[in-house]
Amino acid sequence: SVMGEIMGISDLEIKLRDKLGINYVVISKKVNESKDMITDGVAKSAAKYILKNLNPHDKIAIAGGTTMRQVAYNLKSDKAYEVDYSNLIVMPTRGSVGSDIEIQANSIAASFAKNLGAQVEFLYVPDELDGSARETLMSIPDVKRTLDHLRVSDKVIFSIGRADVMAKRRGMSYEDIEKLKAKGAIGEAFGYYFDKNGEIVMKLNTVGIDIDMYKNAKDSIVVFAGSDKVDSFLALYKLNKNLTLITDEDSAKEILNKL
Ligand code: G3H
Repeated sequence: SVMGEIMGISDLEIKLRDKLGINYVVISKKVNESKDMITDGVAKSAAKYILKNLNPHDKIAIAGGTTMRQVAYNLKSDKAYEVDYSNLIVMPTRGSVGSDIEIQANSIAASFAKNLGAQVEFLYVPDELDGSARETLMSIPDVKRTLDHLRVSDKVIFSIGRADVMAKRRGMSYEDIEKLKAKGAIGEAFGYYFDKNGEIVMKLNTVGIDIDMYKNAKDSIVVFAGSDKVDSFLALYKLNKNLTLITDEDSAKEILNKL
């Protein structure tokens, strides 16, 4: 597009930030590469931004997923070793003892903390718990302490998913996915499925950050790569504009075109 030709990355970042009305935008420059390379570029930009903005006593909540795994992986930097992060606490946004251990929030919190030399608090609470089992687990002192820390997180770092992709990943049946689509679900974050207006249409019974905690978060950072997630982002950002967006150049341009 003409806009792409005449605007530099930093112009694009500012324009997008102003149009969205959010705090900050970081755009990873376009690479003519595979989806994985694009994700890696975005993750490196995110890691750099995070390292620049961390405070040594922060409490950081980090979500699961493949994007967050790459962000945590890329936190390895010389800068990380210049600063003493031994008082910084990293926590998963929610308990997740699902199938894929590599992309669970607990695992990602662990690698994030390890790369910084920070502390980690886990939430070993299964997703999808009901009623009294959930209440009981949430009253365990360790779990309660982490939930209290999550409530006062200095930064919440997460990615978004497409509703259909996430539902499939979580093993939802074809019929239930169709029902979810019929409700207008377009995106997913923190175990919440929301429609294009940012209204919650379904949620998992997870233990961790809930939507009110997210809306009241001091500082949240959403990281995503790939324009297939643009519509999910456009729904999500309506929930809380106290937000930093880190994405790739093509997605950034597409967001701008859709606003
Ligand atoms: O909840 C949404 C997911 O975190 C997105 O996962 O980074 O693997 O696409 P992903």
